[in-house]
Amino acid sequence: MAKLPAWLEDAVFYEIYPQSFQDSNGDGIGDIPGMIARLDYIKSLGCNAVWVNPWYDSPFGDAGYDVRDYKMIAPRYGTNEDAKRFFEEAHARGMHVLIDLVPGHTAIDHPWFKASMQAEKNEFTDRYIWSDSIWESTDLPCIRGISPRDGCAAVNFFSHQPALNYGYAERTRPWMMAPDSPAALQTREAIKDVMRFWLDMGADGFRVDMAASLVKADEGWKETIKLWQDFRAFLDREYPDCAMVSEWGVPAKSIEGGFHMDFMLHFGPPAYTSLFRSEQPFFSRAGKGDITAFLDTYAADLRSTEGKGLICIPSSNHDMSRLAFGRDERDLKICFAFLFTMPGAPFLYYGDEIGMRYLEHVTSVEGGYGRTGSRSPMQWESGKGFGFTTGDTPYIPFDDGADAPTVAAQVHDPASLMNAVKELLALRHAHGALHAFGGFTPVYAEKERYPFAYRRTGAGESLLVVLNPADRAVKAPFSVEGEVLWRVGDAPAKGEIPARSACIIKQ
Ligand code: NOJ
Repeated sequence: MAKLPAWLEDAVFYEIYPQSFQDSNGDGIGDIPGMIARLDYIKSLGCNAVWVNPWYDSPFGDAGYDVRDYKMIAPRYGTNEDAKRFFEEAHARGMHVLIDLVPGHTAIDHPWFKASMQAEKNEFTDRYIWSDSIWESTDLPCIRGISPRDGCAAVNFFSHQPALNYGYAERTRPWMMAPDSPAALQTREAIKDVMRFWLDMGADGFRVDMAASLVKADEGWKETIKLWQDFRAFLDREYPDCAMVSEWGVPAKSIEGGFHMDFMLHFGPPAYTSLFRSEQPFFSRAGKGDITAFLDTYAADLRSTEGKGLICIPSSNHDMSRLAFGRDERDLKICFAFLFTMPGAPFLYYGDEIGMRYLEHVTSVEGGYGRTGSRSPMQWESGKGFGFTTGDTPYIPFDDGADAPTVAAQVHDPASLMNAVKELLALRHAHGALHAFGGFTPVYAEKERYPFAYRRTGAGESLLVVLNPADRAVKAPFSVEGEVLWRVGDAPAKGEIPARSACIIKQ
């Protein structure tokens, strides 16, 4: 089990999608100097940590998740010196920085893959997964016919992202290597070398892309867990404070692998989608959702990870529709009352704090496809360029709605969504019961019923959170007596929870 860095106890993350956050040189694409200029803003929200999506040199066929050079900042974002300054500036503000580690695949034009494509044997021949013949497909989708080498290369995600070789747990073909074969172990060492590079520069840890995908044909992730335990042992030896969050979605497994945190996600078990993104999500005015679809999975995950690791519920991320899709400000305040009072560490996706919208009809950019609508540039202020760029053409179009939300319009409005986010995060920081490991006990969570109520305990306090996103008042068979610390909508009274309300009560 990994020892948890103390700061995770009260961590609140902000996800920065670098190309869309703040452009400082007018080229229409965000960059690191822009990110530095906005650190104070992130901190003012109450976020004390950031996750930065890949900022490495890349052909950007998958928005940077196709890495061409693991040790070089993409020129469009700046230089390695800028990255170093970003770490320093964040640390000077008491903030921590996780960067994205993409260990499962590279870009097709990464020098390792170029070497691996050669017919002559070399250091990188087995860095990727290759079948023995161009006529034999790999068990995974594959790239074929582009190399002097005879064989097909397995891909991990898009067709231009060849899978790095960490071996196969179950081997049915001669070219499938064992997870502890020399070539598979060398791949691990190469990634450890990348981690050292960024940790030495100042990174506090990593969000690991597709962490569950490394060892192939691995029923129950047995070998994948062992692999991550080996990474954890390396970190414990050399960088014991390095914080790790996995894109895995099965916390019992990832935390056994030595991760400190795992996300609830829009794929895998349907628990997360049932909150916000299924056909009838719990958080919707229609009030036809089912909180037990979330809670059954969540409670089991919490039991199996208690005291060992954190479950992180993101507001959205760069891969799914934005939280604001189909919701107005009041709905969103209720969602945030939930997100910021749950155990674990919350992740706020840039722009969700002002209710940035999912743009349904934008053309795909950089391999975004349907995800592009959640990746449009940050709206800092109204007017051409939205304070994001001084250039004429942002690389993804802005929200063209006349009422597109902006930071400038919300910052001085006490009733704004952004100020609700600030209030909730201030409350979270001020009350130990709301921190990562504070107790969590459902008080009312019935199948296909509203509200959802739970108690958070710790630091000598007991806080009741009552959430009713439905457009109707509902009966409450529990006591709502106590001091109201925060609410949206009317306060609960006489056994009734008002329509579209959220309330945090100190009892
Ligand atoms: C998950 C990332 O979040 C996503 O954006 C990316 O396309 C895939 N992994 C492939 O790296």
